[in-house]
Amino acid sequence: MNLKIDDVRSRFIKHFDGSTGSIYASPGRINLIGEHTDYNDGFVFPGAVQQGMIAEIKPNGTRNVRAYSIDLKDKVEFSLDDEKGPKATWARYIFGVCREMMALGVPVGGFNTAFSGDVPLGAGMSSSAALESVYAFALNDLWGDNKIEKMELARVGQRTEHKYIGVNCGIMDQFASIHGKAGSLMRLDCRSGEFKYYPFDPKGYKLVLVNSCVKHELVGSPYNDRRKSCENVAAKINAKHPEVKSLRDATYEMLDEVRPEVSKEDAMRAHYVIGERERVLTVCDALEKGDYETVGHMMYETHYGLSKEYEVSCEELDFLNDIAKQEGVTGSRIMGGGFGGCTINLVSEELYNNFVKVAVDKFAEKFGKKPVIIDVVIGDGARKLE
Ligand code: GLA
Repeated sequence: MNLKIDDVRSRFIKHFDGSTGSIYASPGRINLIGEHTDYNDGFVFPGAVQQGMIAEIKPNGTRNVRAYSIDLKDKVEFSLDDEKGPKATWARYIFGVCREMMALGVPVGGFNTAFSGDVPLGAGMSSSAALESVYAFALNDLWGDNKIEKMELARVGQRTEHKYIGVNCGIMDQFASIHGKAGSLMRLDCRSGEFKYYPFDPKGYKLVLVNSCVKHELVGSPYNDRRKSCENVAAKINAKHPEVKSLRDATYEMLDEVRPEVSKEDAMRAHYVIGERERVLTVCDALEKGDYETVGHMMYETHYGLSKEYEVSCEELDFLNDIAKQEGVTGSRIMGGGFGGCTINLVSEELYNNFVKVAVDKFAEKFGKKPVIIDVVIGDGARKLE
């Protein structure tokens, strides 16, 4: 993590009573493939990154949380017992995590806290999951005797998004932030919660993000509409095939059967999701064989689906994807929820320098600003630093 513990500590000392607390970290994530599949009970393939959130926390013996956002230079105080919670969105993440941990029986007390992050906001790298996860992990350590299992900590973050922020997200981001392991991607079955670590060291290739710097904002966005479309189609299929509980169980034939009963748009969204389920499994097989050409091919297919069927791309991201294709990059696609943020690119080492240069120059020429290049290093999940 580029973030310096010392910076967080010095602000914590300055903004509170001069004493120090415990320091925790939790990362953002990338996702190799498996986009918008988590809330359809499908598979995802994320890994934690080195960028993340660091928080210093010290119990203060009251029922109040006094929180300082170092990056926003904003301080908020709220009571753990106030059902409404604070107004500021950043503080609502912390409030939501506290309330959800309390609902699990963890006797959370008031605390002072300062936090800072180096996950670019709105880049599709899950800065919000990093924030939720650092507090879920810390509260479990400080008040919960670490009795809450890791997957439940991830769900605490997810419920925070649903109930306190209004984004009906899946489990991928919080899962990855909590469970990440340096050097490994994880294949998660979002239905059963089973997952497997895949050491990821593609010899001769690099993973690089190109951040379009178009800020994606999932709050109040069409993200929730996408989820609704999937649920509509799954419900129609379920009426004919009771064994189908979600789109994870559906086939293209089943989709064709219900086409007359669903909107064109919903059918198009579902078509993407059914295809994406297969692509994740194909990528897992290909990775085991070291077949990166197939991995890359699937990434391009995913981009096409996200852009043309799921419609979560934008001009800037499609442009970056086209450049990757022109420059011979092995695989490239939108990463995360979409509507802005980054592309993730699997590029051979010999093409890397040229690709990065061409992507930056051409993008700047067209859109008048430079995209930001982020080399991916797969890092560890939530942990105590000090
Ligand atoms: C966001 C959500 C995740 C997932 C992705 C798309 O990051 O938080 O749950 O749905 O979008 O794959």
